[in-house]
Amino acid sequence: MTSLLVTGGAGFIGSNFVHWALNNTDATVTVLDALTYAGNTANLGGLPEERFELVAGSVTNPGLVNELVEAHDAVVHFAAESHNDNSLEGPGVFIETNIVGTYHVLQAVRQFGKRLHHISTDEVYGDLELDDPAKFTAQTPYNPSSPYSASKAASDHLVRAWVRSFGVEATLSNCSNNYGPRQHIEKFIPRQITNLIDGIRPKLYGAGENVRDWIHVDDHNSAVWGILQKGRIGETYLIGADGEKNNKEVVELILQLMGRKPDDYDHVTDRPGHDLRYAIDSTKLREELGWEPQYTDFSEGLKDTITWYEENEAWWRPMKDTTEAKYAAKGQ
Ligand code: NAD
Ligand code: DAU
Repeated sequence: MTSLLVTGGAGFIGSNFVHWALNNTDATVTVLDALTYAGNTANLGGLPEERFELVAGSVTNPGLVNELVEAHDAVVHFAAESHNDNSLEGPGVFIETNIVGTYHVLQAVRQFGKRLHHISTDEVYGDLELDDPAKFTAQTPYNPSSPYSASKAASDHLVRAWVRSFGVEATLSNCSNNYGPRQHIEKFIPRQITNLIDGIRPKLYGAGENVRDWIHVDDHNSAVWGILQKGRIGETYLIGADGEKNNKEVVELILQLMGRKPDDYDHVTDRPGHDLRYAIDSTKLREELGWEPQYTDFSEGLKDTITWYEENEAWWRPMKDTTEAKYAAKGQ
């Protein structure tokens, strides 16, 4: 049995990882989460007490990080500020959590000789042209665009430096855009679903031609588990499920699945520096670790996600007005 310390485990992907790991493996899990606006204890409801614990605290607190790292076999490091739009409004906390927080995690796994898996994003590679035949691979040069992606890029560089200079046993993964239950409603897909439930027209930044490579959160997490078990130390694995769609297509599909007219949305002010396209080549992960995504039909995965938000209004309702007010103030 492995004891895991999961940072950021009260957020979207981290909480789905905790549920996934407790349902599919023998691991015990401790979550370390600062419970920011993006962390929610309700995400961790109903978990078996004998195999799960939540510690409220920050990865920027080295004393706490050391104590928890020492007490576990391995760390899966999800904790981050994760929203690009917020990083344009207030980048400071992104530097603190994503860079300084990762530094403290690295120092702790170095001191106590523990295994680390670092969760990162495809955004570190910048963006692709719409007609570029190449996709991102682990060899693609780093070229981040936003304070968020630059902070994640910095954290990846720190992890590699700690592997090479200090022999830390770490792996990295860079995943594409996740969708699924429990994603904060500031993000694209849940924002549009909850807008439609509230009778608000979906909001598309700019022309809506930007492409994202969608993957279901459970497929991301099954890949993370595979890397944790079988990944080679020091290696980077790109996680993606060949899910490229432009934002306009996604909004039209949500409208169709929710029984609305396909053109029932608004174009709003674009995001400054908005990355045009992300696309992942996950050949290495598939060939080396035998990973395959289970959610191969985006429409089906999206339908389940819509149903989750319809059935869990109590989860998102308290955040809706504040979230929309922030967007309205920016013309979005
Ligand atoms: P999220 O914003 O939903 O969750 C982040 C969690 O981290 C929250 O529970 C929050 O309370 C916690 N947190 C924030 N600051 C903290 C701190 N200082 N100490 C401890 N906990 C803190 O984010 P998410 O979408 O679940 O993303 C999780 C990770 O996956 C991030 O590292 C992100 O960069 C990466 N990622 C996300 C996506 C995506 O599509 N959402 C894709 C690829 C990679
Ligand atoms: O690629 C992985 C990244 O995906 C992760 O690292 C980030 O943590 C995660 O937030 C996500 O970043 P994006 O910026 O791509 O996600 P977001 O949901 O904010 O936006 C997706 C696309 O939709 C993007 O092109 C902007 C657009 N958009 C977003 C919102 C909130 C809209 O058109 N309208 C909106 O209301």
